Amino acid sequence: MYKYTTSSFTTRLGMRPIVARALYSSSASSPIKRVAVVGGGQMGAGIAQVSATFEHGVTLIDVNAEALERGQKYMAKSLARVAKKKFPAEPNVASDWVEAVLGRVRPTTSLSEGVRSADLVVEAVVENIGVKQKLFGDIAQAAPGHCLLASNTSSLPIGRIAEHLDAEAKARTLGLHFFNPVPQMKLVEVVRAEHTGAQAIESAVAFVESIGKAPAVCKDTPGFIVNRLLLPYMMEAIRLLERGAAEARDIDTAMKLGAGYPMGPFELCDYVGLDTLKFITDGWFKEGDGLRGDKAFAASPKLDELVAAGHLGVKSGRGFYDYSASKKK
Ligand SMILES: NC(=O)c1ccc[n+]([C@@H]2O[C@H](COP(=O)([O-])OP(=O)(O)OC[C@H]3O[C@@H](n4cnc5c(N)ncnc54)[C@H](O)[C@@H]3O)[C@@H](O)[C@H]2O)c1
Repeated sequence: MYKYTTSSFTTRLGMRPIVARALYSSSASSPIKRVAVVGGGQMGAGIAQVSATFEHGVTLIDVNAEALERGQKYMAKSLARVAKKKFPAEPNVASDWVEAVLGRVRPTTSLSEGVRSADLVVEAVVENIGVKQKLFGDIAQAAPGHCLLASNTSSLPIGRIAEHLDAEAKARTLGLHFFNPVPQMKLVEVVRAEHTGAQAIESAVAFVESIGKAPAVCKDTPGFIVNRLLLPYMMEAIRLLERGAAEARDIDTAMKLGAGYPMGPFELCDYVGLDTLKFITDGWFKEGDGLRGDKAFAASPKLDELVAAGHLGVKSGRGFYDYSASKKK
């Protein structure tokens, strides 16, 4: 098995692509061993959990100590479920396994300390371009020179997030777009911005495979692959409802049983969060690269009305559907 050291990885960056591919294509040979995750919310905790499950050393960084505590509780609960399935007849083995995985995640509120010896930093903080740009500047300063710099953004261009970095740091910057809930969802979109180096993509693909996920490489265009196809579909379903063509429940039933989708479009909207859906589509309509003024993303009166009323989907107890009864159970 290829043994990784920081210096050998740095040397490998200069190798011819064909040799590098052979080295990095096997999950066992991923050069990334130490992962720093910035942002201990829903996504960050999930990315930290999965990385630690596959034996990477992880630091989980958040400005808010309470968020780190919540993140640890989330991981413990999620790992306990996994352990129950993995070791159904051995409760002691299961709890030892959970402890061992959690033991590989070190929480900290210090960014510089958390990224100091990382091979990969995955940023998963609030979806705000100014916050992310500043953070990437700080990470590039504090992380080692070989470290890959990745953002988990759903809707912001990687090129803009990296805008203020120098060319060398830009070549190590890319998108790693995980899906929610991270422990269950197999896909990670590996996003190649114009400035991202081929070696960074190779290493990122090897890392994704090393944590049991499937990579899909794509360019830095709005919505990458999955959201670029899903959002017009969700907005069109809302417009179908607005036109009175069918009820939400019937549209969901039709798409599940007629198209074989696991969730109907309104179940999906409520799961994603109606505020998130509105935030992304409004942004694309106003200034999305190649999408400005695209009717598919024009405001929807029904969506605006629900968001204004605070009906944001599953997280608020009501969206297109009412979840208050199921929450009380
Ligand atoms: N929630 C999803 O379904 C989903 C799916 C894919 C991608 N994403 C993307 O992942 C990112 C995070 O989303 P989330 O749902 O986990 O958000 P979240 O609100 O649950 O968590 C964000 C965390 O970041 C922390 N934070 C904010 N600024 C920080 C900073 N400067 N340094 C360190 N920590 C900071 C906050 O304290 C919070 O704990 C966003 O970019 C989002 O677009 C979200």
